[in-house]
Amino acid sequence: MATILAIETSCDETAVAIVKNRQVLSSIVSSQIELHKTYGGVVPELASRQHLEIINPCISQALLESGLTWQDIDAIAATCTPGLVGALLVGMAAAKTLAMIHSKPFLGVHHLEGHIYASYLTQPELEPPFLCLLVSGGHTSSIHVKDYGEYQLLGSTRDDAAGEAFDKVSRLLDLGYPGGPVIDRLAQSGNPKAFPLPEGRISLPEGRGYHPYDYSFSGMKTAVLRLVEKLKAEGDLPIADVAASFQHTVAKVLTKRSVKCALDHDLDTITIGGGVAANSGLRKYLQSAADQHNLKVYFPPLQFCTDNAAMIGCAAAQHFNLGHTSKLDLNVQSRMRIEQVMELYQ
Ligand code: KG4
Ligand code: ZN
Repeated sequence: MATILAIETSCDETAVAIVKNRQVLSSIVSSQIELHKTYGGVVPELASRQHLEIINPCISQALLESGLTWQDIDAIAATCTPGLVGALLVGMAAAKTLAMIHSKPFLGVHHLEGHIYASYLTQPELEPPFLCLLVSGGHTSSIHVKDYGEYQLLGSTRDDAAGEAFDKVSRLLDLGYPGGPVIDRLAQSGNPKAFPLPEGRISLPEGRGYHPYDYSFSGMKTAVLRLVEKLKAEGDLPIADVAASFQHTVAKVLTKRSVKCALDHDLDTITIGGGVAANSGLRKYLQSAADQHNLKVYFPPLQFCTDNAAMIGCAAAQHFNLGHTSKLDLNVQSRMRIEQVMELYQ
């Protein structure tokens, strides 16, 4: 049983958690949404400074809430990739320093592997293989979880991430940031079939049809922009219908392609992660498509879908139990393929 203190600072949440294998002993998340709201998105330099200010109180609080002391901690972990380099550096420097001071092993964790582990956290019986659909503000990926530490990226977005598309559509409707929750709320009272929107298909070379699992959200966003301009010019903007039509299209596309991906790869389970996993339309569509095809689908609770350190600690615990640790000279990286996670360990 590995007890891990984990730190996550890859974007705009400063998070520290203590996890014992798949059990969360404490989980502190300090969101920077208020700080970045005025700018309509995350400002990297502000994010790093805020992480720096808040990281130490978050570490103390996580330890306090767990009721443990440093002696009870087996290893210290931090997200090392992918993410904003300045932001990642704060968490990594804190984790490495703690590892040195307390003479504990250190583990760097791939942020997307963390998101996959959110499902293990809340489904203790879950075992690979399965398909994980990761939909956040920075990522839209369908990952085949073949085994512990063994992944294959089967589909991803070619342009905007799904959450980013929600944020951009929200901005053009003057609804503020982040866009997902407010569009979701408005969509409840709108007609999802009011305005048909393009599904964003990715063409294969030489007219060989379309990529079955990849996504594109930028065309959908531009179509919403044109639609809003047209409706405004006509003097009537039925904002709930626009929100519902957009959400319906995103949810339908994500559902269709991930169900096909699971069926094509003989996988009977789909798990979901990232902030967009909170979307009520996506949850409804995916659940009913899964029921129709006899697939199991797991939605972790929202606090583990959005960025948090408990999922990072859970991934680190699994690696630590398998004898993996990272070197103290491991560096942060803005990008790294999920297939390469084992390169983080010795
Ligand atoms: O995973 P997350 O907290 O942060 C990262 O991007 O890593 O995801 C944030 C994203 C934002 O783009 C936000 O608009 C979106 O998740 N989001 C939603 C909902 N709640 C949050 N998108 C659609 N529907 C929601 N209910
Ligand atoms: Zn994330």
